Amino acid sequence: MATAAHRVKSVEDSIRDTDEPEHRLKKNLSGLDLTVFGVGVIIGTGIFVLTGVVARDQAGPAVALSFVIAGVVCGLAALCYAEFASTVPVAGSAYTFSYATFGEFVAWIIGWDLVLELALGAATVSVGWSGYLNQLLDDVGLALPSSIAGETAVFNIPAIAIALAMTAVLVLGIKLSSRVTAVIVAIKLAVVLLVIAVGIFYINADNYSPFIPPAEPAAAGEGGWLDTPLISVLTGFSQGTYGWGGVLAGAAIVFFAFIGFDIVATAAEETHNPARDLPRGIIGSLAICTVLYVAVSLVVVGMQNYTELSATAPLAGAFAANGLTFFSSIISLGALAGLTSVVMILMLGQSRVLFAMSRDHLLPRPLAKVHPRYGTPYRITIATGVLVAILAGVVPLTELAELVNIGTLFAFFLVSLGVIVLRRTRPDLPRAFRVPFVPVLPIVSALACLWLMANLPTETWLRFVIWMVIGVVVYFAYGRGHSRMATGERRPSGAPQDVPGS
Ligand code: ALA
Repeated sequence: MATAAHRVKSVEDSIRDTDEPEHRLKKNLSGLDLTVFGVGVIIGTGIFVLTGVVARDQAGPAVALSFVIAGVVCGLAALCYAEFASTVPVAGSAYTFSYATFGEFVAWIIGWDLVLELALGAATVSVGWSGYLNQLLDDVGLALPSSIAGETAVFNIPAIAIALAMTAVLVLGIKLSSRVTAVIVAIKLAVVLLVIAVGIFYINADNYSPFIPPAEPAAAGEGGWLDTPLISVLTGFSQGTYGWGGVLAGAAIVFFAFIGFDIVATAAEETHNPARDLPRGIIGSLAICTVLYVAVSLVVVGMQNYTELSATAPLAGAFAANGLTFFSSIISLGALAGLTSVVMILMLGQSRVLFAMSRDHLLPRPLAKVHPRYGTPYRITIATGVLVAILAGVVPLTELAELVNIGTLFAFFLVSLGVIVLRRTRPDLPRAFRVPFVPVLPIVSALACLWLMANLPTETWLRFVIWMVIGVVVYFAYGRGHSRMATGERRPSGAPQDVPGS
């Protein structure tokens, strides 16, 4: 039997698995659908909420630079994802890519890690949705008590409701999901464009100076080492707030706003022509969002002084502060619609990754069953929905958004290195999209991800390490023995069954 380290699943096996009748997903999506999907999941809490917090507490008006930095890091990783997705067009994204390059153990680690990005991310955005809903209800005098709605709720009923409603949509079928998404994405884009087109006339140039507020050391007694970025703890060089240190720490947080382009890759099996459409969907949606983010953040910090921005609804707040209350309500409504699709697609991504993991028997195999009528992995989708609903309902998630970022950056790190490995181990595979300047570009991408991770608080690192240790224990207790590689159903890459093209 192969050791865990050598359990590399061949790309051919991964593709062949997608054709097993009981595991076959419908191939319904086009390149445009994928781009819409990407934009649908990318634009969300990041731009609608975090822009304000980061400008106020970390970067000042230079939050726009934080967006540029995070966008560049994501752009590098996006190229790596595009190559992988065009080579291994199988559900599961980073999990599947890792199985084909580093082998089963790393694949499991990354699958486990993706729960932080996808399930925890969906729960975080559900809580944000509940906050926006309550704000709108408040506008019409019907606000729910803060114990059952909003960011500080003890039992967050709207957050649970949105998670379960999106689960139902996903179980009914992906084509329906992509139609729902298209409508929501149109509303969301319209609102973002409205912010730029109207807000630009209300910019006060004074608000841009200083563009990068001078660095301030952390006040005595404020924020212990747990709250300090790991890089400061390691180097002993305290960055405090603002200044370039603040811009970088801000980049590590607004990174959340870009999460989602990678999820396009998780829909690989449901795409007509993955080799062509996946790179287009991934890179296209990321490029659109980066331009919009930089524009929106510049407009918002121009409309209102960064010290006065709202922490919960900065876009709507900046309009309200300029007396534009009508636009402010429209923005809140658009944000509410926009966050809905983010929750849905993050859960879609999560269910597809867990689907791929149970198809490989690293999780109990009955979970991978596809619904005979809807063609969706309904069991895993329902399990995901319930998990997200519980997390969103009872866990105070605001600070856990940073945990979502670290988990995602770790996945990007491994995918970047994986491109180099797969080029070496399987140079023969057809690659419809090739990353330029290999190995330099993927190495720069991996280092850039590590660098953003290092700018996250030390406490986030501790939580991340604890989660990953639990994952290792679960692997050795369950997955390692049950895996298709262990039971002999699949042999490691390189065994006679793996003749390319067979
Ligand atoms: N990028 C997504 C958001 O900002 C996760 O909500």
